[in-house]
Amino acid sequence: MTFTRDFWAVLSCCAMMTLSRCHADRLLPPTDLSYKWLDLLTVNVSWSWQRPIDLPEKCEIQYELRLVEKEERKEGHRCPKRTFLKNVADSCLTKQSNSDHWTYSIHTLGHNCDGWNSSTNVTITVKCPEGRADLVKNFKCVLEPSGMNCSWIPVHPSHELKLSHRVCGSSEKLRKSFKECDRPYSTGMRNGCYLNVTVGENNICIVANSKIGWSIIEPLLVIPSSKLSIREDNHHLNLTWMPPEVGKYCSWKYNFCYTQCNGPEQCLLSSSTHRMPYDENCLYKFRSRVLNGTHCPGMNSDWSEFVSYGVNKPPDGTLTVAVIVIPIILCVCVILSCYCFRRHSDIICPNTPDPSAIFKEMVMNGNKEHKTTAESLYTPVPEVVEPCKITLVSATSALQQNF
Ligand SMILES: *[C@@H]1O[C@H](CO)[C@@H](O)[C@H](O)[C@H]1NC(C)=O
Ligand SMILES: *[C@@H]1O[C@H](CO)[C@@H](O)[C@H](O)[C@H]1NC(C)=O
Ligand SMILES: *[C@@H]1O[C@H](CO)[C@@H](O)[C@H](O)[C@H]1NC(C)=O
Ligand SMILES: *[C@@H]1O[C@H](CO)[C@@H](O)[C@H](O)[C@H]1NC(C)=O
Ligand SMILES: *[C@@H]1O[C@H](CO)[C@@H](O)[C@H](O)[C@H]1NC(C)=O
Ligand SMILES: *[C@@H]1O[C@H](CO)[C@@H](O)[C@H](O)[C@H]1NC(C)=O
Ligand SMILES: *[C@@H]1O[C@H](CO)[C@@H](O)[C@H](O)[C@H]1NC(C)=O
Repeated sequence: MTFTRDFWAVLSCCAMMTLSRCHADRLLPPTDLSYKWLDLLTVNVSWSWQRPIDLPEKCEIQYELRLVEKEERKEGHRCPKRTFLKNVADSCLTKQSNSDHWTYSIHTLGHNCDGWNSSTNVTITVKCPEGRADLVKNFKCVLEPSGMNCSWIPVHPSHELKLSHRVCGSSEKLRKSFKECDRPYSTGMRNGCYLNVTVGENNICIVANSKIGWSIIEPLLVIPSSKLSIREDNHHLNLTWMPPEVGKYCSWKYNFCYTQCNGPEQCLLSSSTHRMPYDENCLYKFRSRVLNGTHCPGMNSDWSEFVSYGVNKPPDGTLTVAVIVIPIILCVCVILSCYCFRRHSDIICPNTPDPSAIFKEMVMNGNKEHKTTAESLYTPVPEVVEPCKITLVSATSALQQNF
């Protein structure tokens, strides 16, 4: 009797303990993690998970996948990912030449689970398929209306390279849409080909293959630089750029730099038109480039060639001559003629009075008027003439003196 009572007491205690534990428990993390490459761009990570019998019926289980490394992701790929399924086909790709592996951390989440907390994290390290190699350098694609004109410097020029491309993503439809690059060409150091894609609407993923290995290419997208037209309008210049033929949906910005009269270069950011004051005496030199607008990140053009407008006119000379040079010449002439006149006054006009002397006289003597004008005038000082004495010496006496 006591035995059964004690037994029930212990049993109900255990049951209560279990119940109370359940309400403060953690969900279990996923188990049996594995992965499989579906193509060079897409990995399928899968796992299993056993639903506990005491989990409330309404409790919904989700799994969250995060990337552990703080590696740069290709734009447009969302991570972390949440899923109700027990697998994820992911193409969160690390950039070219980064490490050949990465690690996901996965945990279980519950909704409406009456106090069941999310699980601890489990990790899985994904290794890239064998044979990753650096095959190209300086991979660049010029966006043209007909597609992308891509070119690169091959790392191993003796090995033929095959490029394939598709819109990035992990769905089966996308994985089956790989296309080869066509119309291959070669110019100097660079090789190239054309990608027949509508530019910009989706991310394009490119894979290069050769005997040496494979690599995923992150192209640098370049748009052709836009033509600048310059119009003069009421002491102003109107600058207008033709929008690029590609990316009609992008709102582009124009970065332009100019010099005025060989001055220092100034740079500004503009929309497709810009109005600026214009100095008609100056030569202007412009260069510009297109920058990615709000909807087209990372799409820029190279700098354009220089475009000139106007001419450098020399500073207006006639005014300087009139204001400075003519008065100087006149002064010099007057001084010289005065000097000449004074010097040869006896010839030109013998009795010309010395004007400075007259002036001095007036100042010094004030209103005294008893001095005669004759005294104040120039009186030549009589020259002292030594009287000559001529002595006649007879030739004989001179001869006598000598002998
Ligand atoms: C569950 O989460 C709550 C709130 O975050 C916390 O107070 C509690 O200790 C957690 N329980 C367990 C078993 O980790
Ligand atoms: C990923 O792998 C799991 C298990 O092998 C499979 O059930 C699932 O269909 C695969 N997903 C894709 C997109 O192939
Ligand atoms: C699991 O990892 C994520 C980030 O990777 C972190 O925010 C979270 O706190 C981790 N959870 C646990 C239970 O450690
Ligand atoms: C493609 O690019 C190459 C090198 O940049 C150039 O020589 C070629 O003219 C371009 N093709 C077209 C159709 O613009
Ligand atoms: C480019 O692709 C479109 C369809 O996507 C096709 O109609 C066109 O003929 C292709 N052009 C070239 C040059 O292959
Ligand atoms: C220059 O731009 C102004 C305003 O941006 C406009 O009113 C004017 O008509 C333009 N002039 C020319 C010649 O395009
Ligand atoms: C262009 O894109 C870069 C990132 O790719 C961004 O940092 C920059 O702000 C963008 N520029 C404009 C003008 O939107």
